[in-house]
Amino acid sequence: MKGIVLAAGKGTRLYPMTKPVCKPLLPVYDKPLIYYPIAILMQAGISDILVIVPPNETATFTALLGDGAQFGLHISYAEQMVARGIADALLIGRDFVGDDQVCLVLGDNIFYAPTLAATLKKAAAQVSGATVFGYWVDDPRPFGVVEFDETGKAISIEEKPRYPKSNYIVPGLYFYDQQVMEIARNLKPSARGELEITDVNLEYLRRGRLQVIPLERNFTWLDAGTADSLLTAGQTIKQIQDDTGRYVGCLEELGLYEGLITAEHVHKIGEELDMTLYGKYLQCL
Ligand code: G1P
Repeated sequence: MKGIVLAAGKGTRLYPMTKPVCKPLLPVYDKPLIYYPIAILMQAGISDILVIVPPNETATFTALLGDGAQFGLHISYAEQMVARGIADALLIGRDFVGDDQVCLVLGDNIFYAPTLAATLKKAAAQVSGATVFGYWVDDPRPFGVVEFDETGKAISIEEKPRYPKSNYIVPGLYFYDQQVMEIARNLKPSARGELEITDVNLEYLRRGRLQVIPLERNFTWLDAGTADSLLTAGQTIKQIQDDTGRYVGCLEELGLYEGLITAEHVHKIGEELDMTLYGKYLQCL
């Protein structure tokens, strides 16, 4: 399965911070935001990753992530020249995905749960159809909202509804089989002029091929699209790391855990970053 990180948003809700620096490169506590969605893909067992970045930003992302080899990954880049919506990422990534299945994650979505890797690997092992998640929030109106029937089956999804039918939102993490390419090709722009990922999910729902997994209470999902949510994300990551003694979104650690790089390699990176707690953490792995 291939992985795509959509990190091409302008981040206008974070101006002036995102005027000179793209949103996915802003810090969430001790790491750049984009580390967290890449960590999600790694925990799903995916190592071949396309990062979609804003126009003329490939060099800045490459300065941070390179070709991914330091984490045991293959990372390539594509630029989204016009903000045409989330589902446009599938069209941009068409050649990259080829005949494979694909997991798409949004560049500002952060997940944490002790059981996250198992949940993600299960979703990635699903060979046909689509798998998305449902996450309970207080105010679902700014998101894609999924409605379940009394048996727990998803029956509707609405993008940013004024009157949500439930409190379950669909976070920005989507697992798709090969049908998604044909579905994406046939999408029409929505009223806000975007190719909506919710329309892709609705088509899978219509075909009876959409699985929506409700996330348990021990899951934390954060998006970091506004100043408040960015700060909350940083505080939450710090709290989890302080409580557990384990880092969230540490790509070298995940590379080691997934068997992609060796302990010696991780220790060497740790020595280079010895001036940071991050570096000291790597040296202890
Ligand atoms: C997007 C999706 C929405 C989803 C959300 C998760 O919203 O359109 O369905 O729930 O990401 O972060 P946007 O970031 O475009 O407001």
